[in-house]
Amino acid sequence: MHTWDELNNFILHCRGCGLARTRRLPVVGQGNRRTDLMMIAEAPGAREDEEGVPFVGPAGKMLDQLLAGAGLSRGEIYLTNIVKCHPPGNRDPREEEKDLCMPYLRYETHLLRPKIIVCLGRVAAQRIISLDYRITRQHGTWIRRKNCDLTAVYHPSAILRDPAKLEETQADFLSIAEHLRNIRNSL
Ligand code: URA
Repeated sequence: MHTWDELNNFILHCRGCGLARTRRLPVVGQGNRRTDLMMIAEAPGAREDEEGVPFVGPAGKMLDQLLAGAGLSRGEIYLTNIVKCHPPGNRDPREEEKDLCMPYLRYETHLLRPKIIVCLGRVAAQRIISLDYRITRQHGTWIRRKNCDLTAVYHPSAILRDPAKLEETQADFLSIAEHLRNIRNSL
């Protein structure tokens, strides 16, 4: 039988790739395990590596601000990363690291069965939605796959680097909140 405890235990003891040698703490997914809304980012940053919790650093503050602006909170979402360990120097995770970590994301998705998946940033969108996903052109657009609505938004760190992206991301979060309301109302 699949359980959250089993999954998190696998992740906490994982030595599947080289990141196990440089990470401090693996970062397991966090949030509401009964929600319809799953958000997937790329990999933990330095602060997350120290605390073992996703989005506790500056990007986390931006994420909280975006959620609050759409009337949402972390308690209503489940938040995870493609790669569960911090890549040194904050580099993008390598293909092999993503490949080796994907079974954990599949396990999480199997347990959660989300009706909405939001990719936070290009790296997650290219892994989850399509290899050639163009975040600048396609963010905020929706596709439907196996009874699940998928979209992608700019990564909160990208907004910190370029505040001009804030307004369109706020609009994308409003669309996400509306999708969630529609799903709740249709049950
Ligand atoms: N950036 C990510 O992609 N994931 C985190 O958990 C934190 C920052």
